[in-house]
Amino acid sequence: MSRSRVYPTNAARQAAYRKRKKRSIFFSRKCREWETPQDFFDQYNAEFGFELDVCANAGNAKCARFFTKEDDGLKQAWQGVVWMNPPYGGRELIPWLKKAYDSAQTGATVVCLIPASTGTAYWWEWVKGKAEKGEAEIRFVPGRLHFKNPKKNPNGEDPAGFDSAVVIYRPPIFHNTKSVTTLKLNLEDVVFTDHNAITGPVNPEV
Ligand SMILES: C[S@@+](CC[C@H](N)C(=O)[O-])C[C@H]1O[C@@H](n2cnc3c(N)ncnc32)[C@H](O)[C@@H]1O
Repeated sequence: MSRSRVYPTNAARQAAYRKRKKRSIFFSRKCREWETPQDFFDQYNAEFGFELDVCANAGNAKCARFFTKEDDGLKQAWQGVVWMNPPYGGRELIPWLKKAYDSAQTGATVVCLIPASTGTAYWWEWVKGKAEKGEAEIRFVPGRLHFKNPKKNPNGEDPAGFDSAVVIYRPPIFHNTKSVTTLKLNLEDVVFTDHNAITGPVNPEV
């Protein structure tokens, strides 16, 4: 049985319908080509310096190196600093998040732009769940992004009918500052040892 909705006026009912319709075009299986706004990407690119866009086409790729639907980004190896704005349709997002997480475990840094769907199971498993273990960072995007889709709207951008978040998966060494500090101290130890080796031991008797 479908859930019935009660609206105080006909205008409110129509406004709710328009909102649902607008939201649904971004999740439609028929069209997955919504481009990240360039200024938004540029801001993240300045911070991370992306090397690979794992879901793209030749017209919307954000990096010189990219994978398309024909390559199937999910079947490729993700290395280096990776940008990921995947297709959003239904549960389609889940394998992309899993791949992003797994790739970080083997050394990649993966920055993902996804809907901030905090009520979904995937959000709790792959985003919030990983963030609680220090394995992901969540940055909520203020306001609503305007996505471009030349096929749907050749002259402009459409405001998303949903909130967005950037989720960052980093290699395990960056999961907490304690391990980075430990690494730094160890490197200093190595430098100290090398210095002794060059100048000779402090006490030649030893
Ligand atoms: C939301 S758009 C993002 C485009 C662009 N990377 C950006 O950030 O503006 C998702 C892109 O993924 C592509 N795509 C869909 N399935 C894919 C797959 N299996 N492997 C790689 N790319 C895929 C779509 O054709 C589309 O261009």
